[in-house]
Amino acid sequence: LKINLNGRDETVPALLENDPLLFVLRDGFGLNGPKFGCGEATCGACLVHVDGVALPSCQLTCADVAGRQVVTLEGLGAGHKDGLHPVQHAFLVHSVPQCGYCQNGQVMAASALLAANPRPDEPAVAAAMDPVLCRCGTQTRIRAAIHAAARAMAEVA
Ligand code: FES
Ligand code: FES
Repeated sequence: LKINLNGRDETVPALLENDPLLFVLRDGFGLNGPKFGCGEATCGACLVHVDGVALPSCQLTCADVAGRQVVTLEGLGAGHKDGLHPVQHAFLVHSVPQCGYCQNGQVMAASALLAANPRPDEPAVAAAMDPVLCRCGTQTRIRAAIHAAARAMAEVA
């Protein structure tokens, strides 16, 4: 199977076509940004971008993404200043993470949101981010960082 992974064409053995993409990313490619949380599409810890849309990699097989563009947290900053996507930069500035376990999902959901909607209002942010759980209660900082990233991206554009 051919997958474009973080901008590179990669080959996945056909033997793994029905394996969860999350496991192949982590165990096969050493991409540990996406995390295993619930394994049933309810926490968002495993989000990756598939053709620009944030999707739970625990629910995708390798065959599902054959011929498509997959971006993980590791590839998100490519082409951005200091190798950090503006969302990643804003999360650092706002000291968003606590334990950090959910943060892959938060960053991948937020960056997909801003790609589709560069100046989201609060309801739009809530709708995009509510599916990504955080047990540490960082939601207030997450939302502040998303709006800061949106402002930064508007200044660059
Ligand atoms: S591990 Fe995939 S949504 Fe929770
Ligand atoms: S920072 Fe700990 S679960 Fe979100």
